[in-house]
Amino acid sequence: MRFKTLAVHAGQCPGEHYGAVMTPIYQTSTFAFRGVDRPGPFDYSRSGNPTRKALETCLASLEDGGFGFAFATGMAAETTVLMMFQAGQRVLVHSDLYAGTYRLLEAVFRDKGIAAEYVDLRDMAALGRELKEGAGAVWIESPTNPLMNLVDLEAVAALAHRYGALAICDNTFLSPYFQRPLRMGVDIVVHSTTKYINGHSDVVGGAVVVNDAALAERIGFLQNAMGTCAGPQDCFLVLRGIKTLALRMEEHNRNALAIARKLEQHPKIAAVLHPGLDSHPQHELATRQMSGYGGTFSFRVRGGQEAAFCLLEGVRTFTLAESLGGVESLIEHPVTMTHASVEPGTLARMGITPDLIRVSVGIEDGEDLMADLEGALERA
Ligand SMILES: Cc1ncc(COP(=O)(O)O)c(C=O)c1O
Repeated sequence: MRFKTLAVHAGQCPGEHYGAVMTPIYQTSTFAFRGVDRPGPFDYSRSGNPTRKALETCLASLEDGGFGFAFATGMAAETTVLMMFQAGQRVLVHSDLYAGTYRLLEAVFRDKGIAAEYVDLRDMAALGRELKEGAGAVWIESPTNPLMNLVDLEAVAALAHRYGALAICDNTFLSPYFQRPLRMGVDIVVHSTTKYINGHSDVVGGAVVVNDAALAERIGFLQNAMGTCAGPQDCFLVLRGIKTLALRMEEHNRNALAIARKLEQHPKIAAVLHPGLDSHPQHELATRQMSGYGGTFSFRVRGGQEAAFCLLEGVRTFTLAESLGGVESLIEHPVTMTHASVEPGTLARMGITPDLIRVSVGIEDGEDLMADLEGALERA
């Protein structure tokens, strides 16, 4: 079956739930045993729950994976994956990435002996040198948040495997609708389902999908042992959101690309960072490994922080807020909002400067969105 059909049906069997077309919310902590030493398919909701099972099966099938896991948040998913490693193991991480992942690696895992080394994963020679020193995994984000740089998933996964390291990809920005990392050799896909997968800004959630049975066993064990799983109500909402994932992604993609093209011509805009533009230095890679560009991108305004703040305060349809991937358009200032926990020196080195603005373009009318930005730029 194809993506749109799987998004509506995968993992969902009305026959198992009194014919209920929507998988019900199994709001129960525990399940009755059939007799002594004879549990049913579920015994306790931390270990497994029918609503979560439906979501996990659906997530696995959309990512072309054998095994899916649903977590309480994207960070719970990341934490569970990182707990697979031992003290003394290194994780090689792309040098520009989501600030919450950076904080988790630096403020939680480093003093447990799991050390992140930051490498520009666009530079295969640099990655090869680091892999030779030994590493448990390479952690990839593509596109990166918020600079929209890309990593060649196939090349990085192949190089990681040559040195016995796992390749892990955070696929939050594109969702499986536009990018399937497991097909390109990546071992573990991670998501914040809070974003496009749920798509309605009403849940925080996370996911992991893998193909390898031994990896799945380890992640399932950790999910249960650490209790990082998602609750049934959130699983229900994410399952409902997924049904329209394909339609939403098409609309996000169309609106964002149209706005990026217009902004590129605007005299008050210094640069637009969007992999769908010919001006993006990795546009060719984008067309090769992604089937669309998603709805999130960044741009630099002329006039530095002052002009950026005027724009952020001047919009009316865009909402000034963190997060991305919902049906409504959001706008934010990475330096003072999503990336405020990263030291100023590191931000500057990465190129996350005060003139940078990130937008998550929603599914409203594209002309209304552009008029909103143009109006705010006029007043800026
Ligand atoms: C790329 C990326 N990964 C992971 C996360 C963390 O997800 P959550 O907020 O659901 O814990 C985020 C959140 O913004 C994100 O943008």
